[in-house]
Order: sequence, then structure tokens, then C-alpha cells
Amino acid sequence: MDLSVEIGTLRLSNPLIAASGCYGYGVEYADAVDLSTLGAIASKGLFLAPREGHPPPRIVETPSGMLNAIGLQGIGVHRYIAEKLPELRRLGATNIVNICGSTLDEYVELARILSDAEGVHALEINISCPNIKEGGITFGCSMHGTFDVVSAVKKVTHLPVIPKLTPNVTDVASIAKAAEDAGADAVSLVNTFLAMAIDVETRRPKLSNIVGGLSGPAIRPIAVRMVYECRRTVKIPVIGMGGIASAVDALEFIIAGATAVQVGTANFVDPFIWSKLTAGIEDYMRRHGVRRIADLVGSVDTSTREKEWVSS
Ligand SMILES: Cc1cc2nc3c(=O)[nH]c(=O)nc-3n(C[C@H](O)[C@H](O)[C@H](O)COP(=O)(O)O)c2cc1C
Repeated sequence: MDLSVEIGTLRLSNPLIAASGCYGYGVEYADAVDLSTLGAIASKGLFLAPREGHPPPRIVETPSGMLNAIGLQGIGVHRYIAEKLPELRRLGATNIVNICGSTLDEYVELARILSDAEGVHALEINISCPNIKEGGITFGCSMHGTFDVVSAVKKVTHLPVIPKLTPNVTDVASIAKAAEDAGADAVSLVNTFLAMAIDVETRRPKLSNIVGGLSGPAIRPIAVRMVYECRRTVKIPVIGMGGIASAVDALEFIIAGATAVQVGTANFVDPFIWSKLTAGIEDYMRRHGVRRIADLVGSVDTSTREKEWVSS
């Protein structure tokens, strides 16, 4: 069985990627998981400088999901390169570095710095974090903003560029198309959904930031629909995520059109989920006579459903 997939020039041994912000910088999990067995690790979002993030409470449990407003706490790109990358290289991890900018110039500078660092395999451009005021999602909510960031980053790097899209837009496929037109090698989606929870006893928001991003199984059907729409609109690979907690969930995204998938919130429930996901996908492939996982990508059969819908 062949689980390998290609994201632009990047070949992954399997389609399972640890989602940004839900796997630290990767090294934190090295005692529990052989990092070289993951398709890749998307790092916690990095700015040029270290950031404190928002004060607590920053996480709230919700039905079938969680709400977070971490505020992109992070060690900054220079410490990542000096302190985390050497260990990640030694452990044989495939590293997708998630970058965040308050300005277009910051994205460009980050891309330049990381392109010279040994052991970085791709850049995921975070234009979709709902939890910070400046930059980020301001770019990701418009076709022009997306186009501008992606084309500026593409000019300064040889690495595959993967803009990460926000679901907080009316038409995510048009944003994916703007990214493709700007030269993106793939798109990843979805980041979290802007959401809010209130403690009715105190009448106060449960998060210090008032609003946050919703993730976990609660968002999965919306994310699957968005992956399906993007796959129909762009030719570049789509990396899907949103509530994946089992092999069946991962397969759903792949069949909807995701070349690879990311797993975020489920890591907080089960850090050992990876071997279960792989075993479940392999079992499915065996039962369905699928030799290459790449053959499953976008294989959803909507033909009869469309006919039923038209005639009803
Ligand atoms: C605690 C937390 C921190 C996150 N931090 C980042 C981040 O730094 N950069 C980013 O692009 N996405 C970040 N995300 C979004 C996830 O990578 C992912 O897009 C989202 O949670 C949906 O996937 P899931 O339902 O599997 O968690 C974060 C999500 C959570 C829950």
C-alpha cells in the first residue's frame, strides 16, 4: 500500500499532518511519538519576535469542540531556528512552518529567514487566525489580501507555499482561487470559526479575549464542505482539517478532495492518535482494494445525489 502524497515539490510519506498550534513545535511530543512517522508537523504560528499571547482563560470546552483564544503565543522565528529545528532535524521530522505577520513585510521577512534554515520543508502562511487584531485574517478575508501576501512570499522563497485559509468568509473557494493565481503550491483549510461563549451566572465572556476560534468535531461537516468546494475550484492540492478524530474522519476529507489532512484538537484528547489513524486508513484501503491513497483524493461520487436533488 502506498500512503505517500505530493504537495507541490514536497513528498510526504503519508497524508497525516499535525495541525498548527495543537502540537507545539513538535519536539514536545518526541518522547511519545516517533516524529519521523508523521506525514509532517505544522509548527505553532511564528512571528518574527516572541509573543506572550492573551491572558487566561484562553480555552473553553464546548459541545463536541473547543474554543480558544491563545493569541498566537510563540517563541519567535529566531529561537525556533536555534532551539527547535536542530532537534527536529535529528528526529527526522518533516517541518511545515506556520508563519504569521502583522504586516505584509513581516511575512516576507519570515519567509526569507526560514528559506535559509536547514530542515524547513514548507511554509504555511497563516492568514486566518481569528484571535488577533492586527494582520493575519485581515489578509485572509479578501481575495486581494490573499493574493498580495502569497505572491510577495513566493518571490522570496524556493519552499512550497501553503496559505492557510479562514472559514470566516462567504466563499472560501474564491479565496483559494486567489491563492492559486498568486502561485500558491497548495492551500490548507480550515482555521477555526470565530465564536463566543458566555457564563450566564456572571454574564461575562468565558474567554479573556471575549471571542475565540472554534475547533473540533463540531466544525467537521462545514470543513468537509469547504474542502469539497475548494477542490472543485483549484488545481493545486488542498490540505483539509477541522475536527478529524478518527480514520473515518480523515478518509471523509480525502474523499471530499483533500490530498493530505491535519489533525489538531484531537491531539489534546489522544496524543497517540496517529498510529490509530494510520491503521484505520490502511484497513479501509485493504477492504476497498485501494493501492494508493492518492487515488482516493476527491473520489466522492455525487452523480446520483445531484440527479436526486434536481428531480426532487
Ligand atoms: C489551541 C489552538 C491553537 C491553534 N494555533 C494555531 C496557529 O498558531 N496557527 C494556525 O494556523 N492555526 C492554529 N490553530 C488552528 C488549527 O491548526 C486548526 O486549523 C483548527 O483547530 C481546526 O482543526 P481541528 O478541529 O482538528 O483542531 C489552533 C487551534 C487550536 C485549537
